[in-house]
Amino acid sequence: MANMASTLGALCTLVALFPAIVTSIPLVPRFVSGNGILDAYDYVIIGGGTSGLTVANRLSEDSSKTVLVIESGPMDDGSESFRVPYLGRGYLNFGTKFDWNISSVPSQSLGGRSIIMPSARVLGGTSSINGMQFAKGAVSDYDAWEELGNEGWNFESLAKYFRKSENFTAPSEKLVKEFGVTYDKSAHGFTGFIHSSFPRFLWPQLKNWVGAMKSLGHSVSQDPANGGALQLFWSPLSLNPDTQTRSFSREYYDGAQDRPNLHVLLDSTVTKLLTSGDERVRVDAVEFLSSAGAQNGCVKVKKEAILAAGSIFSPQILQVSGIGPASLLKSLGIKVVVDLPGVGANLQGHVYNVIFYQMANASLAATNLTTNPTFYNEMHELYKTKQDGPFTNNGANMIAMLPLSDITSDNLQNLFEVPSKNLSHQDTSLSKGYQAQLKILHHRLTTPNMAATEVVWLNEGAMIFSVMHPLSRGTVTTTSSSLLAGIPAVDTGHLAHPMDTRIFVETLKYTRKIAATDEMQKLGLIEVTPGAGVNTDEQLEKAVRDMSNQMYHMTSTCAMMKRDLGGVVNKDLKVYGVRNLRVVDASVQPLIPAAHVQSTVYAVAEKAADLIKAGDS
Ligand SMILES: *[C@@H]1O[C@H](CO)[C@@H](O)[C@H](O)[C@H]1NC(C)=O
Ligand SMILES: *[C@@H]1O[C@H](CO)[C@@H](O)[C@H](O)[C@H]1NC(C)=O
Ligand SMILES: *[C@@H]1O[C@H](CO)[C@@H](O)[C@H](O)[C@H]1NC(C)=O
Ligand SMILES: *[C@@H]1O[C@H](CO)[C@@H](O)[C@H](O)[C@H]1NC(C)=O
Ligand SMILES: *[C@@H]1O[C@H](CO)[C@@H](O)[C@H](O)[C@H]1NC(C)=O
Repeated sequence: MANMASTLGALCTLVALFPAIVTSIPLVPRFVSGNGILDAYDYVIIGGGTSGLTVANRLSEDSSKTVLVIESGPMDDGSESFRVPYLGRGYLNFGTKFDWNISSVPSQSLGGRSIIMPSARVLGGTSSINGMQFAKGAVSDYDAWEELGNEGWNFESLAKYFRKSENFTAPSEKLVKEFGVTYDKSAHGFTGFIHSSFPRFLWPQLKNWVGAMKSLGHSVSQDPANGGALQLFWSPLSLNPDTQTRSFSREYYDGAQDRPNLHVLLDSTVTKLLTSGDERVRVDAVEFLSSAGAQNGCVKVKKEAILAAGSIFSPQILQVSGIGPASLLKSLGIKVVVDLPGVGANLQGHVYNVIFYQMANASLAATNLTTNPTFYNEMHELYKTKQDGPFTNNGANMIAMLPLSDITSDNLQNLFEVPSKNLSHQDTSLSKGYQAQLKILHHRLTTPNMAATEVVWLNEGAMIFSVMHPLSRGTVTTTSSSLLAGIPAVDTGHLAHPMDTRIFVETLKYTRKIAATDEMQKLGLIEVTPGAGVNTDEQLEKAVRDMSNQMYHMTSTCAMMKRDLGGVVNKDLKVYGVRNLRVVDASVQPLIPAAHVQSTVYAVAEKAADLIKAGDS
């Protein structure tokens, strides 16, 4: 592998010697292959996913700038598994050629299990295969970023970028009348590339759930978009309201595909950033390997390289390029370009559990789709002919985001003081950064303004619940000096901190209170797992460790924080110690918000594009 890397390096030099060969090809809008690619681009974007395509669209608005997107995967095949909400949320693309098929390293805190972390390998990225939730977090989730030292990154300043990415369609009269769906039009955008709307069909059990939550004292917030993503709210989906199909970041590409200054290279994996300079490091070129035809190559960067490879691969690309913790790099024989201990640290993710019920009294429920093939076929046909019925629905439409004080009367002060066992950071900046995060979370999580836990009713008879502001932290670590050697080791860290486990146990108890309400009992709920026999705190803790899974929201591995707090990028998203390299994906979010992260990824990427344009001279 080391040989391969140096061969590629040599190739880059060769191309540089004969620039005329390649620059003679006229700029036309297209997917380029190895021989159609230009020698150099103003901007080289690494990753054609949710953030990468957003930034590619905005930067290529200026026709005088050339933009290349390098994407590991192919185009999607347009199949129903991508487009149809009910089927898409069945996660049919996990473990296929459109997925990196990542599993975490086995973890003691998860009962010795490793868990899957689907990450799309396709133009459009993980927005092509996710669960389509589009609600953003609450004010406190984003204001915490600014409090951590990132000036200009708060709810108010991000609001315009949330709007910019969105094209909202209000729910139909039918949904408003029959289900009481509420919204606040003034909080939404209407000109963005990503549709947000509600499915035409909602399952009747949702009424029981809303009634149950109200009977426990929870109110319905008007709209999560206006900063009030707390208590109960109707959550829009990234859904095209006309076709009832998935709306995803590919639409940013579709909206720019006739621009001659935007090129996309598919099926090509970036293997290294080639840098020069000691004091003021510069990315000169980006090296890649093309799987189709095994072409490999290298492209020069005139202005900036932009990492948009996601929370797993962005830190790995930095590490193999010599930007990361010096001790790790040296142990793998990688030349240290910038010693940056935070690269791959601070991994945060939402971890979830599910409690399953039998529903003895539900005449029409999502279970019918799995138990009754005739019904399934009829509903599939209804979708194909009229874009209506349960196939329009991904399964989760109303979300409860609950603060700690709603699920337990104990404020858990003592747990905030527990030093995280698995944060035995040798590096002082990392532990300083973690302490700074802990202080902010401690303060905010003990107010009603920040959610500690999410509870969602699924219409097949289940409640799914998640820890939204974990105190546990994980890591992403390359295991080789070459990216070609495979995916990095991902230690999720989930449930390593006792607070997270405690929140889970308290939330599990709370779901039982919800299930016991008169409204839910009308459905004839009987708990199947973990089951009525699992009761003591010890039993409940074991159950959550054994059942926990990833929500597939991985963030914060190239965190935007001060360098002396273990940050990787500054408030302009520039990598410390490098002149022309930014990160624009979920990995820069310093603290994961209490929200399904995709709408935040779009908003951050929209803001990133403006920062890049502003830095352009
Ligand atoms: C995905 O990973 C699993 C387990 O690691 C393996 O069994 C399976 O073959 C992989 N799938 C693909 C498409 O590589
Ligand atoms: C903490 O880290 C050690 C070493 O990486 C690992 O062996 C152990 O399983 C982790 N403990 C928990 C509770 O995750
Ligand atoms: C927003 O979505 C609506 C509904 O699909 C569509 O009619 C409208 O043209 C879209 N607006 C923009 C600016 O794309
Ligand atoms: C759904 O399943 C329930 C319970 O098995 C059954 O009573 C009901 O008739 C089914 N409804 C449909 C539309 O298949
Ligand atoms: C079953 O559900 C129907 C409709 O919600 C309700 O009228 C009925 O009382 C329920 N039956 C039981 C036993 O709760």
